[in-house]
Amino acid sequence: MRSLLFVPADSPKKLEKAMTCSADALIVDLEDSVAPEGKAAARQSAAAFLKETVPATERPQLIVRVNSLRSGLTDADLDVVAAAQPDAVMLPKAEGGASVAHLDAKLAVREAKSGIADGAIKIIAIATETAAALFVAGTYAGSSKRLAALTWGAEDLSAELGAETNRDAEGVLLDPYRLARVLCLAGAATAGVPAIDTVFTDFRDREAFRRECAAARRDGFLGKMAIHPTQIPIINEAFTPSREAVAHAKAIVEAFAANPDAGVVGIGGVMADQPHLVRAKRLLERAERRKR
Ligand code: COA
Ligand code: MG
Repeated sequence: MRSLLFVPADSPKKLEKAMTCSADALIVDLEDSVAPEGKAAARQSAAAFLKETVPATERPQLIVRVNSLRSGLTDADLDVVAAAQPDAVMLPKAEGGASVAHLDAKLAVREAKSGIADGAIKIIAIATETAAALFVAGTYAGSSKRLAALTWGAEDLSAELGAETNRDAEGVLLDPYRLARVLCLAGAATAGVPAIDTVFTDFRDREAFRRECAAARRDGFLGKMAIHPTQIPIINEAFTPSREAVAHAKAIVEAFAANPDAGVVGIGGVMADQPHLVRAKRLLERAERRKR
């Protein structure tokens, strides 16, 4: 999953539009983009959308962001949407592996009730939205077989820290959020799942968005969340391995294949050893998956 587009669940118009914008996944949102009085209607709208869309053969992955475990709304959200079998549930304000295990149990009950295969609904956790979450970002490994990815958030975290802003005047993330971003990357790698980069809210600034996508890919994120359809093609391009990157990765793999006893090789005047080989193989796997 390269691109994941947030769509407020209470907007049938946006849900319809989202289906046509080449996002790899839609995140149908029941949480922060829906006002408290609108939650019940949003659940119904989300379930109706899922029922209609899940059976389609050519469709994006369908993820529902439920309300956080502390909100007291998660059970009511799941009671309505789980039966419609989304591909995954996104858990906001997650606090480590324990919160994922908690959601896992809630999903298992709903799957059993609805005759859905055990474990079919995956979990994507937003791992950095509270201060406490930062201290348990390394605890996701082994929490649930459902865990499919980790992502991170800077908006709720800045509110919780009492900050005035999370970016400087140029739009560059400030230190507390750079730490959260790194904890997401390290937490995901520890858990053996992909890391997905957070949203960029200034949706008219495409150049800044492009730069942020490139930086995320450079650092190891495999995709990015979007809030506006115009961000999707930029994400898809940035996170699809380029022809040059594929050629370079192939050269590394071939160099090692030609020298099976070598621990290290030189390619175009640059050293490549085991970590470079691992990176090259991973990139080729991703490029191969895109072709299918
Ligand atoms: N999904 C689907 N369609 C969207 C969309 C989204 N996330 N964001 C905008 N659109 C649609 C609009 O409805 C509009 O459709 P139209 O041309 O048929 O009228 C078109 O894209 C252009 O939208 P635009 O006028 O540029 O933006 P807007 O002012 O209507 O909406 C936001 C701005 C921020 C309210 C909107 O992008 C949005 O709702 N984003 C998602 C917010 C969210 O889910 N946040 C939670 C996670 S951080
Ligand atoms: Mg939020």
